[in-house]
Amino acid sequence: MAKVSEKLIQLINEQIRAEYESAYIYLEIANYYEEQGWYGFAGWFNKQYKEEVEHAEKFIKYVHEQGYKVVLEDIRAPRNTYKDLREPLAKQLEHEELVTSLIYGLMDQAVADKDYRSQSFLKWYVDEQTEEEEHSHELIELYDRYSVDPIGMIKLDKKLGKRVED
Ligand SMILES: [Fe+2]
Ligand SMILES: [Fe+2]
Repeated sequence: MAKVSEKLIQLINEQIRAEYESAYIYLEIANYYEEQGWYGFAGWFNKQYKEEVEHAEKFIKYVHEQGYKVVLEDIRAPRNTYKDLREPLAKQLEHEELVTSLIYGLMDQAVADKDYRSQSFLKWYVDEQTEEEEHSHELIELYDRYSVDPIGMIKLDKKLGKRVED
């Protein structure tokens, strides 16, 4: 069985850190909303946080399956401050775009290596990023539509809370 390149494994190890950092950013956002009583928004981001941990775990499993060692790196603490309820949503979109570029970098390496197994594995992440960016866009649109009046905001908070119950 052809071995996955050390270069790609190194990039995946870096990506594992990036996924945990994403989780941390979304946990910070969940806390920001929770502390102001927007529980639906908080629940939404709490779910995002957990999904990012799952993304990291999926990479960890892959590294092990390829017979390599996982090297965990420091997770930087997020220190974002938000001046209104919309800013975390813009942050999410900006962050997901950054992660997409990192995933594309991994795919570039797999293509350069002619590593078809890793390309197939990474395709899941490429598709996931497309969805993540779409959802981030949609959330901003929803916010802009609902936030024009206070009752709308309460409705949106309730709507977002439903995702957690699903
Ligand atoms: Fe992710
Ligand atoms: Fe994500």
